[in-house]
Amino acid sequence: MGDLQFEEVSLRFPSESRPAVHHVTGQIHSGEVVVILGPSGCGKTTLLKMVNRLYEPTSGQIFLDGVNIQKLKVTRLRQQIGYVIQQAGLFPHMTVAANIAVVPRLLGWPKPQIQARIDEMLDLVRLSPGEFRHRYPAQLSGGQQQRVGIARALAGNPTMLLMDEPFGAIDGITRTALQDEILRLQRQLKKTILFVSHDVEEALRLADRILVMRQGEVVQFDSPLTLLTQPADEFVYTLLGADDMVRQLGVLPVSAAMTAIPPEDHNGARPTLSPQDNLREALSLILRTGAPALTISQAGQPVGLLTLERIRKLAVGKGGTPP
Ligand SMILES: Nc1ncnc2c1ncn2[C@@H]1O[C@H](COP(=O)(O)OP(=O)(O)O)[C@@H](O)[C@H]1O
Ligand SMILES: [Mg+2]
Repeated sequence: MGDLQFEEVSLRFPSESRPAVHHVTGQIHSGEVVVILGPSGCGKTTLLKMVNRLYEPTSGQIFLDGVNIQKLKVTRLRQQIGYVIQQAGLFPHMTVAANIAVVPRLLGWPKPQIQARIDEMLDLVRLSPGEFRHRYPAQLSGGQQQRVGIARALAGNPTMLLMDEPFGAIDGITRTALQDEILRLQRQLKKTILFVSHDVEEALRLADRILVMRQGEVVQFDSPLTLLTQPADEFVYTLLGADDMVRQLGVLPVSAAMTAIPPEDHNGARPTLSPQDNLREALSLILRTGAPALTISQAGQPVGLLTLERIRKLAVGKGGTPP
């Protein structure tokens, strides 16, 4: 559940001469985190808003789990889709608890179930229910407001989350913590997430795949690694800052570059990292220990192998050369 498909989707606002979104085609798989990345005004928000039908396409179709969303009641569609925007968009006159309860109430859940859900959601985003339930949005920091925004978006158990630059107004450290939170929630809940950003590092950290947009069109839709190493054109190359590879290694997870463990491998005494560690740590560990490769393990189980050669190919290979 949560499989989304764009087919030749376009939207031209009546007041504009150029379409805001132009012939966008692409599939987002169930459970995937896809970041829509591109400069301001390239159509990211417009594309996102067509998914929950805040905007309707001028032409083309969008399918959710194989169903044309035009054929669904808007209210039913939106129950399946959580929506998080910048500044969280919380209702200022409602407590945190009431904000989180909005969708469950609309869905007609029994009261005790709603109360339990509020606590469950606050725990999920690591805000203590006792402390935060009765506060108003103005009594929260920006980061806490975003956590409540995420809790509210998840409360009705949607199959998919739309997030439009949710951390755009949040300072660096809090922002990184919230990004980690999204990754953790994603691993735990396996929601499809469509996340708009104009921040390359954020996109590289979060995305399974990045949909790069420019002037309403999709320029490239690939994994972070492919974008860095095989940018489709000069625009993608420059946008991704592929010339600053060492910095980029710091935001790419080891899982993006590891290879399968050969069947006859006995695992030796190689140093170990986890798939979530970044490639810059991997590089420094290899250089520090002089080991030819690292074992990548998850919960004590080896899941992959990472060689210096693999990292070097990334760092100085195709990534260093403009297309
Ligand atoms: N409601 C609207 N009416 C007219 N033009 C709009 C409207 N919303 C967005 N646009 C225009 O559509 C283009 C894409 O905007 P938007 O999707 O908000 O870009 P992004 O989210 O990538 O910054 C821009 O040129 C913008 O000015
Ligand atoms: Mg926008």
